[in-house]
Amino acid sequence: MQDQEERALPPEICKVIFNEEQIQEAVARIGEQITRDYAGQKVLLVTVLKGAFIFMADLVRAIKGHVEIDFMAVSSYGSGAKSSGVVRIIKDLNVSVEGRHIIIVEDILDSGLTLKYLLKNLKSRGPLSIEVATLLFKEGKQQTNVHCKYVGLICPDEFVVGYGLDYEENYRNLSYIGVLDPEAYEVF
Ligand code: IMP
Ligand code: MG
Repeated sequence: MQDQEERALPPEICKVIFNEEQIQEAVARIGEQITRDYAGQKVLLVTVLKGAFIFMADLVRAIKGHVEIDFMAVSSYGSGAKSSGVVRIIKDLNVSVEGRHIIIVEDILDSGLTLKYLLKNLKSRGPLSIEVATLLFKEGKQQTNVHCKYVGLICPDEFVVGYGLDYEENYRNLSYIGVLDPEAYEVF
């Protein structure tokens, strides 16, 4: 299956960095940690759209116990692949987080500026506790020291797509995570 996937790579994907099996192992590991840490408690997964939607769908099934989900959508001002840290909420939560244990579910922690904003915003709503689960963590890129308790995979400093992550809304449907050829940036 993996061989087939890699042979059928879109030409703009120069390499696969995490295949389906590696991703699923990371998701299962985080699911077990959360199951253990929140045993006997209710937890709300706050999923940041759109990038984290596939991660959340797999993660929620890897958590045994009482778990609820809700969604937020945010947009960073600024162009293309760079986060500016100025964040606008496009879609807010439908439920209140006051007095609840929440986990923010993110696709990737790059500069950390989006997450810093989200943490500040959600903390002001009075949750009982707040943690972060990110599938990918780009090493050495963080401009803030936000604490992320659950980290799936350490990612090289390259622009990656697949498993929910996009470039201009493309490639979210890949079941692996690959590096987008920088030349492809001009294609769109
Ligand atoms: P940050 O604010 O720099 O941490 O970036 C936050 C958001 O930018 C992530 O949640 C992603 O949606 C997007 N992003 C950052 N790096 C990548 C990447 O390599 N591929 C796709 N999206 C990315
Ligand atoms: Mg995101």
